[in-house]
Amino acid sequence: MKNKRVLVTGGAGFIGSHLVDLLVAAGNSVVVLDDLSSGRSENLNPGALFVRGSVSDRAAVESVMKDADYVFHLAARPSITESLSNPALSVESNILGIVNLLWAAKGAGVEKFVFSSSSSVYGPPARLPVSESLPFNPQTPYAVTKVAGELYCRASGMRATCLRYFNIYGPRQRPQAAYSAVVPCFLDAVRTGERPTIFSTGKQTCDFVYVKDVARANILAAQSRRADGLAINVGTGKETSINGLWEVVAGISRTPLTPIRKPGERKGMTRSRADTALARRILGFRAKTGLKDGLAECLGRI
Ligand SMILES: NC(=O)c1ccc[n+]([C@@H]2O[C@H](COP(=O)([O-])OP(=O)(O)OC[C@H]3O[C@@H](n4cnc5c(N)ncnc54)[C@H](O)[C@@H]3O)[C@@H](O)[C@H]2O)c1
Repeated sequence: MKNKRVLVTGGAGFIGSHLVDLLVAAGNSVVVLDDLSSGRSENLNPGALFVRGSVSDRAAVESVMKDADYVFHLAARPSITESLSNPALSVESNILGIVNLLWAAKGAGVEKFVFSSSSSVYGPPARLPVSESLPFNPQTPYAVTKVAGELYCRASGMRATCLRYFNIYGPRQRPQAAYSAVVPCFLDAVRTGERPTIFSTGKQTCDFVYVKDVARANILAAQSRRADGLAINVGTGKETSINGLWEVVAGISRTPLTPIRKPGERKGMTRSRADTALARRILGFRAKTGLKDGLAECLGRI
């Protein structure tokens, strides 16, 4: 994608800023709409035009939408804990936000809309790998907002693709990030020399996908007609346990630290692994960065 006019919401955040970097480097004219609630101005690409504002503000959305060819919607209150204590806040940003954007995009004649959804729409996986054909089973107010976002995409009549992210990691992710932010916690432990904590047995698993691969998946989705109307998993198709993740981090960093073990909050073991067949078939997307390389890049050791 080049020489296009692109709106990226949440472009000051962890994933959004990597997407903005790719889009700017390819020669697109990029506008970022972000309220900096969890994003940071240091993440902003100087080649993009930054507008500070909320996606829940209809007038602000309409004004940045003018002349846009493509919209990548990443802005959201991503904290599950916050969504439990203050669900109205997540409704405002995550539901009212997408409604404002979709209808403004339609009105402005935008070509294509790409929505950052989440694997949390599936709830605890009934079977692995987690395939797009599984029904919605959201367990938190945050996950409900992602389901609603996907349904509004369908209802809007916009050409839209929803990307269901698994566990994303990479540079600029913060340890206090809202969900499953185990990677930045481990990297921080290495940097500070403080022992990391592993909850429960450490045998629980995630599908860790590198942020630059996720940025690329967004651009492929925007360019694909076959992806219109679809929700597509973005993961690696590989399962890594928390113990295994620490082993990789410890191996790369050669840290002598050993984890502190604490009992888990929840009963039962959680596992996760994306079915990546649809992403391969429709988008030609395959995550290129292996866990070791991605973590080494985060640690600045390659
Ligand atoms: N990181 C993951 O593993 C993961 C997994 C699944 C889904 N997601 C989704 O990906 C998207 C990006 O997440 P991230 O990890 O980069 O989080 P992030 O918190 O770094 O980025 C979210 C950005 O949205 C901005 N924002 C929040 N509310 C806003 C509002 N009302 N108006 C304008 N801007 C607003 C924040 O300031 C921030 O810059 C989110 O939609 C999130 O739900 C992330």
